[in-house]
Amino acid sequence: MRENKKAEVLRLLRESMEFISGQELCEKFSVSRTAVWKIIKQLKEEGYEIEAVQNKGYRLLKMPDILSQSEIESRLEGEWIGNRVYFAEEVDSTNTWGKRLAEEGAPHGTLVVADEQTQGRGRRGRSWESPRGTTVSMTLILRPDLEPVRASMLTIVMGLSVAQGLQELLDVPVQIKWPNDAVLNGHKLCGILTEMSAQIDYINYVVVGTGINVNQTEVPEALKEIATSLRIETGHPVKRAEVICAVMKAFARNYQVFMETGDLSGLQDAYNEILANRDRQVRVLDPKAPFEGVALGINERGELLVRQENGTVSEVYAGEVSVRGLYSYV
Ligand code: BTN
Repeated sequence: MRENKKAEVLRLLRESMEFISGQELCEKFSVSRTAVWKIIKQLKEEGYEIEAVQNKGYRLLKMPDILSQSEIESRLEGEWIGNRVYFAEEVDSTNTWGKRLAEEGAPHGTLVVADEQTQGRGRRGRSWESPRGTTVSMTLILRPDLEPVRASMLTIVMGLSVAQGLQELLDVPVQIKWPNDAVLNGHKLCGILTEMSAQIDYINYVVVGTGINVNQTEVPEALKEIATSLRIETGHPVKRAEVICAVMKAFARNYQVFMETGDLSGLQDAYNEILANRDRQVRVLDPKAPFEGVALGINERGELLVRQENGTVSEVYAGEVSVRGLYSYV
């Protein structure tokens, strides 16, 4: 059992949604009545509505959209992923924090989450907006036994996991815009930034940072053509802790498949099936020689295969170029 008894109590209350007696909680977690009472008090302070009735015990009435260490740990019980969870109300960037923790020795599977980022970072030096209370900002620390050149494929593994996790949780047709943007109805829901510390032949650690637009009711004017949120697309609010855990569980599954071969051969079919660009005209924004063609899918290295009009099939590497749909963001 985890050290965090609060997470355990929360999990039990959530899974039953019935009264659980104080006595049962004491016995299950080998703690005193006072300790149980303190845990319940803390949970109430965090925003959970818990009913306490004499001779019956405690019952969870409502679970608001709360992000906390206990909330996340209570949903990842028994998984290697999230074996340690760090949570902050506010942080500059979960990737920056994750790198600091990794330098200090945080183990493989550590998950770093924040309610708000003040200096969220995107790819190509761009910034990433993560306003309080509505978004998921999380970074996973990994220490894979892998050649450093293969680390960028982990971004694709995460992109696939975000899409699958959201499909499983919400039953919505989330797709992927190559290489790793999860999109719904042609608009971007999520961004991923992977960073690495490595020697020539050895990975010290990789941090995979994922930002998901969950409960925003509108997107800034400048991003309207490109971005969206789960709430806008589904029409209802979504619990961020559920999103985090659905994505992490999908990632744990996919990571195992990925590590068996050290490439994407075991995930390529699942990825290509939900690739939004597939069979569509794309423009490859190669700064040296841009070209157009039809996107066919990824290969086992995660490169996009693009067939040009003359029949040549090029392998496009995500680190060097990006791809735009000819008529839309996808
Ligand atoms: C993109 O440009 O599409 C990638 C955006 C990545 C954003 C996430 S949010 C969590 C993590 N922390 C950061 O500062 N960036 C990543």
